[in-house]
Amino acid sequence: MLDATGTLRTTALTELFGVEVQDYDLSEVTTEENFRQLRDLFEEHSALLFRNQSLTDEAHMRLAGLFGPIEDRKADERKPGEAFTVPDVSNLQEDGTVRAETDPHMLDLRSNFLWHCDSTFMPVPALVNILAARIVPSEGGATELASTRAAWAEMPRDLKAKVEGRGIRHRYSHSRKAISEELSRLPRFHKWPDQHWKSVWTNPANGREALYIASHAYLVDGYDELESATLLSELTAFCTRPRYVYSHRWQVGDVLIWDQRAVMHRGTPWPSEQPRRLSSICCSARESDGLSGIRIGPADDRPLHGTKRIEKGRIDP
Ligand code: OGA
Ligand code: MN
Repeated sequence: MLDATGTLRTTALTELFGVEVQDYDLSEVTTEENFRQLRDLFEEHSALLFRNQSLTDEAHMRLAGLFGPIEDRKADERKPGEAFTVPDVSNLQEDGTVRAETDPHMLDLRSNFLWHCDSTFMPVPALVNILAARIVPSEGGATELASTRAAWAEMPRDLKAKVEGRGIRHRYSHSRKAISEELSRLPRFHKWPDQHWKSVWTNPANGREALYIASHAYLVDGYDELESATLLSELTAFCTRPRYVYSHRWQVGDVLIWDQRAVMHRGTPWPSEQPRRLSSICCSARESDGLSGIRIGPADDRPLHGTKRIEKGRIDP
C-alpha cells in the first residue's frame, strides 16, 4: 500500500480535486493510526477512489466509524431489537427483481439525480459518504462529484457576494418536490424541522472554504423563495461546470469516498430494466469537522418571507 517513503500511491482524478489511491485494501484500515493517512488525503483532496475492494458490510461499517458516527436515518422506523443494516442505493426489491419505473422508491432515486450534499436537512448533516459498488449496469449510472471548494475559489466576486455571509435553509421535502409533489408529501420527508446553515463551510484542518448548497436548499437569507431558487440554480450551475466535476463510471469493487462539506454529488440515469446496487454509509459531521462554524440554529422559526409548510400531507398556511 505504501511506497518506500511511507506515502500512499495516488493519481489525480481531475486537475482540481480527487485522487485514486492505488493498491490499497480498505478492509485493513482498522485503527485510528492507519486511518490517519486516509483522513489526511480526504481533507486535502475531497474525494478518494479505491478500485478492486472486497469490503464486507462489517468492514464498511468499521471504516465509516473511523470518520465519525454512522448516520442512521431509519432509526425510528425499525422495531425494537432490530439491528442497523448498511443502506443501499438500489432499484432492486426484496425478491431480487428490478422495481418498476412508477414505483415511488424510483421517484426517490430520481431525486438523487439532482446535485446535492447528503443530509443537509438533518439536525446534524453528513461529513462523508462511503459508496461501494455491488451491482452495476452495463451503461450509465455514473456518480458525479462537483468540488464546491474549487468552484468557490474561482467564483466571480459578484456571484460570491450574493451569497457570502448569509444563511441558507434546507428542507428534505424540497428536493423531492422538484421530482413529484406527491412524493414530497410522504411522512419520511417530514421527520426533521428545516435546517439553517451558513453558506460557506470552512475546513478546520486546512482553512479551505467551500460553498455549502444542495438540492434541499430552498431559501437564502434576504431573498424570497423565487429569488432564492434563481440564485441557488446559478450557484449550482457554476459549481458543476465540467472543470469542477468528476464523473465516476462504476465497476464492481469500486469504493468512492467524498467530503460532503466540499463536494456536491448526483447520480445519473441508467437503463431502467438493469439492476444497480451501491451500498452507502454516511457519517455525521462533528464539531471538530467545523460543524459549529456553519451552525445558525434550527430553522423552526418561520422564514421572513411567507412560505407554506407542508407537513404530512397537510398544508400550514
Ligand atoms: C448517495 C447518492 C447517487 C448515485 O449515495 O447519497 O446520492 O449515484 N448516490 O446513486
Ligand atoms: Mn446522495
